[in-house]
Amino acid sequence: MDPKTGTENQTKQDKAILQLGDKQFELPVFAGTEGERAIDIRHLRKESGYITLDPGYVNTGMTRSSVCFIDGEEGILRYRGYPIEELAENSNFVETSFLLIHGDLPDPEQYEKFRQELRQHSMIHEDMRHFYDGFPSSAHPMAILSAMVLGLSTFYTESDNPEHDDDTNLTVCRLLSKVRTIAAFSFKKSIGQPFIYPDNSLSYCGNFLHMMFRVPAEPYHVDPEVERALNLLLILHADHEQNCSTATVRMVGSAQTNLYACISAGITALWGSRHGGANQAVLEQLNMIHNSGQEVDRFVETVKDKNSNARLMGFGHRVYKNYDPRAKIIKEACDRLLDHLGVQDPLLEIARRLEETALSDSYFIDRNLYPNVDFYSGIMYRAIGIPTDMFTVMFALGRLPGWIAHWLEMRSDPDDRIHRPRQIYTGPQKRSYPV
Ligand code: CMC
Repeated sequence: MDPKTGTENQTKQDKAILQLGDKQFELPVFAGTEGERAIDIRHLRKESGYITLDPGYVNTGMTRSSVCFIDGEEGILRYRGYPIEELAENSNFVETSFLLIHGDLPDPEQYEKFRQELRQHSMIHEDMRHFYDGFPSSAHPMAILSAMVLGLSTFYTESDNPEHDDDTNLTVCRLLSKVRTIAAFSFKKSIGQPFIYPDNSLSYCGNFLHMMFRVPAEPYHVDPEVERALNLLLILHADHEQNCSTATVRMVGSAQTNLYACISAGITALWGSRHGGANQAVLEQLNMIHNSGQEVDRFVETVKDKNSNARLMGFGHRVYKNYDPRAKIIKEACDRLLDHLGVQDPLLEIARRLEETALSDSYFIDRNLYPNVDFYSGIMYRAIGIPTDMFTVMFALGRLPGWIAHWLEMRSDPDDRIHRPRQIYTGPQKRSYPV
């Protein structure tokens, strides 16, 4: 029985034989609950003197995990066994967060308790408000988010003791709730409007929209369709197994660093344009095409040209070699939302033409490059009124429960050790310092 998943089929199934010179090494083979197989090389170096080389960890499993399952060839994504399509249709972000963090959907009592805990922690310490005075108004909100989340650890020092479960639950609820407030405040700071305090009578997403868009001089009513769209977007971003930022959270956490610091590191990893920053880059690319009047076909030729160093942002994925299931859901939701809001966005038309052109081009077909989650999400955020440089912050709000779930899983994993990859040294051999 596997202690982590409670399933039988993660036991040794077979072995692989590795021949190195005249020596043979037997390596155990493991299978996951969905049949994925791995060769266990844990003792390889000790027994053979060899390490494995895998830049970008393309073939390296860093852990066994029960949080999320992806089949990139088939375009399947499930959280704790539930298909993303069903969660997107029926769940909300709070419930999905509970599912990821605790492993099962909550019963009504657990759900109410969780909601209550999130409500209770929606405000940030008043002293933290003043941190915003120190940032220039041009600061990127991802930098502010990462700094402020790290700043939380200075107020809640009990998080330094990762052994105490009650404190961990408190840290989890504080993070989930306060990150919303921090994000909304950084938006208000960037546009020079006063901060709007949370209104705990609203839902999780409703409260975020209220803090983002309310101004003291006007009433603000949360549009239920916008709230629904936001729930959907956050659910779709909530986890994606060992992606760059989640792997970062795990790596930092493996050194026994507190959860706030790990999440802060995850936020910075997410910021990059090859990862979560792609949603901002997509919109910038669409805007550039729109403003320059460039033909879509010509632009596609540019991204195919290796000398251009350009990529079609929102396309391609390390794991998906098929349509990203999240992109499919977002594309439909995008049409619905824009219809509801009566928005006619020329960028949506450009995105559709780009997709159509790329998907019938052998460059993209041969490389299995399809739209990913970031391709259409920015158009929805834009329709909601969220500015481009906040897009990756929205991704971070969504990904937070996934990061937390992985951090918790790692902490209870008997196999966990500090993450410390090896390398193959290619520098100069020993030489003497000239005297
Ligand atoms: N446009 C043009 N060519 C591409 C693209 C693209 N978007 N993505 C990959 N390629 C080409 C790449 O040049 C390479 O070609 P070749 O084999 O001729 O050298 C081939 O496809 C394989 O690319 P790779 O860089 O080896 O693939 P990877 O698995 O290391 O990278 C990726 C995955 C997502 C970083 C990459 O596809 C990319 O840069 N996409 C654009 C950025 C983007 O949309 N990122 C968001 C990912 S989804 C959200 C998230 O989880 O972060």
